[in-house]
Amino acid sequence: MKQALTLPKIKAMKQAGHKIAMLTAYDYPSAKLAEEAGVDMILVGDSLGNVVLGYDTTVPVTLEDMIYHTRAVARGATGTMIVTDMPFATYRLGASETLRNAARLMREGGAHAVKMEGGADLAEEINRLTAAGIPVVGHLGLTPQSVHQIGGYRVQGKQQEEAEKLLADAKALEQAGVFAIVLELVTEPIAAAITQSVSVPTIGIGAGRGCDGQVLVYHDLLRYGSGIRDKRFVKTYADIGSVIRQAISDYVGDVKSAAFPEEKHGFQLDEAAAKTMESITRLYGVEAP
Ligand code: KIV
Repeated sequence: MKQALTLPKIKAMKQAGHKIAMLTAYDYPSAKLAEEAGVDMILVGDSLGNVVLGYDTTVPVTLEDMIYHTRAVARGATGTMIVTDMPFATYRLGASETLRNAARLMREGGAHAVKMEGGADLAEEINRLTAAGIPVVGHLGLTPQSVHQIGGYRVQGKQQEEAEKLLADAKALEQAGVFAIVLELVTEPIAAAITQSVSVPTIGIGAGRGCDGQVLVYHDLLRYGSGIRDKRFVKTYADIGSVIRQAISDYVGDVKSAAFPEEKHGFQLDEAAAKTMESITRLYGVEAP
């Protein structure tokens, strides 16, 4: 059976220059398929708010949502490290509340680690969690939970001040004890500079080629859904949404035209029951299908 990566092994991958492949998953089948396909880490991202629950942002996602989905993922991927997002505001109410919430994601959900969006301002929370044995992944650059403050989903690190803050935040996260940092929508040179300046792996999404690993959203990679927008930083590997829509449309057509079910899809009577059926048919004048 496949063994989940450990923190020392993840660090060793960076040192050896081995790229880390992370993918989001939100339920049993997506987690099982991701594991079978060989991903190094699964992220139960709060992006599930957008791609699974149909919200416009990740803000409405609750701790209960994350526990529920992590539990399904943990049943599907028994040999892969599972990182779960702490949802909006659940790590901003003091270090004790953060610890309580992170512990629920691990104990009730089965996560191996948690991820939080933010920089130096999270040092106390990260210290508290790591002291309690909870591994933490940082998340810098575009932080979707702050979309209402940032005012949109835009690339980070274009201006000098922003770039310097990203570098300082990455160092602060490393110092606070994170074991990896997700860099989302960060300019390629700044992401590469961060990667070189910290000892923990960086995992990029829209952060270019210089990161130690990459993460994509399951539904983006597979174009799984309806009206999935093209994103420059996503490579689409399949168009599952179209395949599903066509298959369901074929099914509807077959039901309407009575092409489905066929004889082979039904269940027939055994000999004795067939005789009984014959008498019923005779008695009531009904027609056998
Ligand atoms: O929620 C999520 O899926 C994420 C990734 C985009 C990194 O945080």
